[in-house]
Amino acid sequence: MSINQLGYIVVESTDVEKWRFFGTQIIGLAEENGPSGSLYLKADERRYRILVVPGARDGLYASGWETVSEEAFNASREQVAKSGAEIIESSAEERSQRCVTGMFSFVDPSGNRQEVIWGPISDFLPFVSPVGVKRFVTGNMGMGHVVLPSMNFDASYKFWTQVCGFGLSDILHAPLSPEYTARIYFMHCNPRQHSLALAEMPQPSGCVHIMLEVEGLDDVGRALDRIAQNKVPLAATLGRHVNDDMVSFYVWTPGGFALEFGCGGLVKDWENDHSVFETTRGSHWGHQWSAPPGH
Ligand SMILES: [Fe+2]
Repeated sequence: MSINQLGYIVVESTDVEKWRFFGTQIIGLAEENGPSGSLYLKADERRYRILVVPGARDGLYASGWETVSEEAFNASREQVAKSGAEIIESSAEERSQRCVTGMFSFVDPSGNRQEVIWGPISDFLPFVSPVGVKRFVTGNMGMGHVVLPSMNFDASYKFWTQVCGFGLSDILHAPLSPEYTARIYFMHCNPRQHSLALAEMPQPSGCVHIMLEVEGLDDVGRALDRIAQNKVPLAATLGRHVNDDMVSFYVWTPGGFALEFGCGGLVKDWENDHSVFETTRGSHWGHQWSAPPGH
């Protein structure tokens, strides 16, 4: 398997300052200004896990997938090219802004922009949260997970499993309305129960949600306190997911998609302790959804 983690995401924003406040004061990430008006939001010893770039729209710009070595990176590029997707080479400026040694991009079968990298460049400065979050759970499980709108679902599923080497973790058929049920397939590339999910639902922001994990329930509760104090709209109440066991809530980001913030996600031994399953509901309890602000 050549991709081994969700290394980062890139968010495009019409108002980077909104992300600065949300990222630092609500979520508890550390900040550093990046080149060309961009913003690094730091969750661990990496320079950043969320890169916010100024732009004409609000939404997810790209998901950044990490490979373990130059060899694995080159093998990924070959596999993606062989699948027929166009390889977009990176510029020195892009690599410098991403803080990576090598990078190429492509657009997946459902139109989502993906970046593949090797060799993240970091100063290894410790993470110090501005609001006292103890630790984000990252390391070899990556920054968390991303759920991408995948209306070309069958082609996307085939691409991510057969070309990118992800394994299917579990399946959910989510009844979005009496007339429409969306397929959501959860996929893994490391011990995190899912690093990627494909959701058969259109999403103008380019993203259904992203997930960040903290170490303990107190940090989840304190984030809920900050959300209440700052009157930030919640997307879903506290709940526990059936598939990855995570206790989490969802909050609307300035990017028009939700951020799941939780703790206690499963760490899987895929070889010895898993068979793919389908759940008929996403949560044991909680996770009552609200419409995005302005809807
Ligand atoms: Fe999630």
